[in-house]
Amino acid sequence: MSDRIDFNDEDSNTSNNPTFDSVLHARLSRRGLLRGSVGTVGAAMLGGLGVAACGGGDTASGSAAAGGALSALSFAAVAKNLNDSVTVPSGYTATAIYKLGDPLRAATAAYANDGSDTDWEHRAGDHHDGMEWFGLSASGQPSTSATERGLLAMNHEATTDESLSSHFIHPTGGTTTLPRPAGEVDKEVPLHGISVVEVKKTSGSWGYVQNSAFNFRLTPLSEVELSGPARGNALMVTRYSPTGTNARGTLNNCGTGKTPWGGFLTGEENWAGYFTRSSTDNTTRGGATAKSVVALNRYGRSQGAASRHGWESAGSADQYARWNISQLGSSTDGSDDYRNELNTFGYIVEIDPYDQSRRAKKRTALGRFAHESASFGLPVAGKPLAVYMGDDSRGEYVYKFVSAANWDAADASPISRIGTGDKYLDDGKLYVAKFNSDGTGEWIELNISNTLIATYATYAFADQADVCVNARLAADAVGATKMDRPEWCGVHPTTGEVYFTMTNNSNRRVEPTGSQMTVDSANPRAYTDDKAGSTQRGNVNGHILRLKEGSVGSAATGFSWDIYVFGAQSDADASLVNLSSLTADQDMSSPDGLVFSPATGVMWIQTDDGAYTDVSNCMMLAAIPGTVGDGAARTLTHTKADSSTLAVTTHVGKAPTATTLKRFLVGPKGCEITGLCETPDGKAIFVNIQHPGEGTALADVVANNTANFQSHWPEGGAARPRSATIVITKNDGGRIGS
Ligand code: FEO
Ligand code: CA
Ligand code: CA
Ligand code: CA
Repeated sequence: MSDRIDFNDEDSNTSNNPTFDSVLHARLSRRGLLRGSVGTVGAAMLGGLGVAACGGGDTASGSAAAGGALSALSFAAVAKNLNDSVTVPSGYTATAIYKLGDPLRAATAAYANDGSDTDWEHRAGDHHDGMEWFGLSASGQPSTSATERGLLAMNHEATTDESLSSHFIHPTGGTTTLPRPAGEVDKEVPLHGISVVEVKKTSGSWGYVQNSAFNFRLTPLSEVELSGPARGNALMVTRYSPTGTNARGTLNNCGTGKTPWGGFLTGEENWAGYFTRSSTDNTTRGGATAKSVVALNRYGRSQGAASRHGWESAGSADQYARWNISQLGSSTDGSDDYRNELNTFGYIVEIDPYDQSRRAKKRTALGRFAHESASFGLPVAGKPLAVYMGDDSRGEYVYKFVSAANWDAADASPISRIGTGDKYLDDGKLYVAKFNSDGTGEWIELNISNTLIATYATYAFADQADVCVNARLAADAVGATKMDRPEWCGVHPTTGEVYFTMTNNSNRRVEPTGSQMTVDSANPRAYTDDKAGSTQRGNVNGHILRLKEGSVGSAATGFSWDIYVFGAQSDADASLVNLSSLTADQDMSSPDGLVFSPATGVMWIQTDDGAYTDVSNCMMLAAIPGTVGDGAARTLTHTKADSSTLAVTTHVGKAPTATTLKRFLVGPKGCEITGLCETPDGKAIFVNIQHPGEGTALADVVANNTANFQSHWPEGGAARPRSATIVITKNDGGRIGS
């Protein structure tokens, strides 16, 4: 893949925020002192409605459903492998039930999988990603206890592409030069977005329901409402919505979340790469220091940027023109072109999974960035709700939104879900995290009244809407900590502690140059790894950081943190790389998806890796983690080029044991494992296998050289590979992981 542009690995944080060189050597005694001051999760929190970690579960039935939390994992670990299949432990069965192109209504033809298929608005999209479960009773009513019938709401992030074209969905690879034919673009666009699909267990077997009236798609062409502070703001004015109140579609949807009131949340991640800007657009907009130019650069669209698919080239109609975000019109407000179109992407979008007639809403109060999952802190009656979020690019930040409204448990009732979202998600405070080397951290509010934001020299914020829309710039202004690519987060169903995957960072260094980042306490590793003869550098394998809020809970502005686990090869250097002493049954690289099971308490870790894939395809592990502070401080002694040393103190969680962390699944070739939800009894889990065969060369698709396809999963034989949802059950009918 190194010869391709990676649109999923965007890197635009050029701020000169501190990386804590000045605090690397803080003393342990101070850490202990501050730890004591932020306290533990209150008893009231543990007794509240326990729910709503990303990844499903039952919004009304308590933190650990019948059977309780598991204290040990008893399945036999799955070995790393390079097979073109899904491997699960002995005693378990995995079955693909909902695949790329599967029809979502009776009138749509079965998927041929040869590039001839049409009617994409009524088929499963591509690159299945985050996913949540929404139960249905036998009579088809929303249910928080149903275990045999429900809806899966899931993201379709992107397509397998090379040189502009989504090659597997066209007969012979598609057009790789501009202009792209409208007929091809009209297939590629609706592959993106989300789908809601009914699934059902019949005679003991799970399957999806092709003709269910609940099935629907939301694509980059669907109308979505803007909600929160940026609704109607001048930044949101487009030819499509001159009032700045609506946006066209949702795009590059990655992580998900589930609200305590039964709504589906989807995060818009690497959307910027789909848009193009002319090479003279800076001048048109008033020069390099014009506000819109500064903002576009910070969000990854410098002038001259080419788009991922060239969709803007398919014709003059508005649905194509909108992919060109150059200032082309003569208006002063942008109502005659798409100069502001980029401001309408990058949000957490709330969707009512049970009612396709309700319009989805982009919740602008939660900030605009490359969103992954959105995970609610444990709701406590009478207290605000907290939503945790990460921004997945190298050196980006961790965020928290705290609602202005206090939680009313009566709102858990699944009625008028979008209206409930208006109450909790449109008004509140947005914070960004700063991690201190002593194991404490601060949530810094991104508010226009903050002097650092109000007087920021790089960008003159107009109002709070501007702060939300340009949250990255506001976070730069307050000196947030640059992280190793924050991906999913999840909230432990009983402790309320918040886990964040930091997937990897090829720009982390002991001695950085240019835009590289210095090792710091929360991102302490930078090393060299060999992959089949090629050298990889930085934080190659990623880590999982966790934090515990201060004693006031969701609204706390101080927290303590440590690193639950460091990804590593089991045979890597134990002093600088394999800091969690991972064994061959536990070793992993590039943790990305992270979902807690409310039913069993198991934390599922999913990988999206390119570093350890010479040894194993991407995988999923089960974990029973401890708590923040159960390990110890540790000082890493890095060696510089001149043989002098740099000491970095970090905080490492207690090493997992053979029964608290194990590999549960290995996917087929070229895939990423992402998205997980479960039935409320914990007896069926749904997992997405994204982009099997992604490494297939376009030339082999053009030549139909099927023998060279990297994967043929799930159909086997000579078939083109398809992203798909699998269901995993235990053969004895027990809970998954038990
Ligand atoms: Fe779509 Fe950051 O993964
Ligand atoms: Ca290696
Ligand atoms: Ca991801
Ligand atoms: Ca990833």
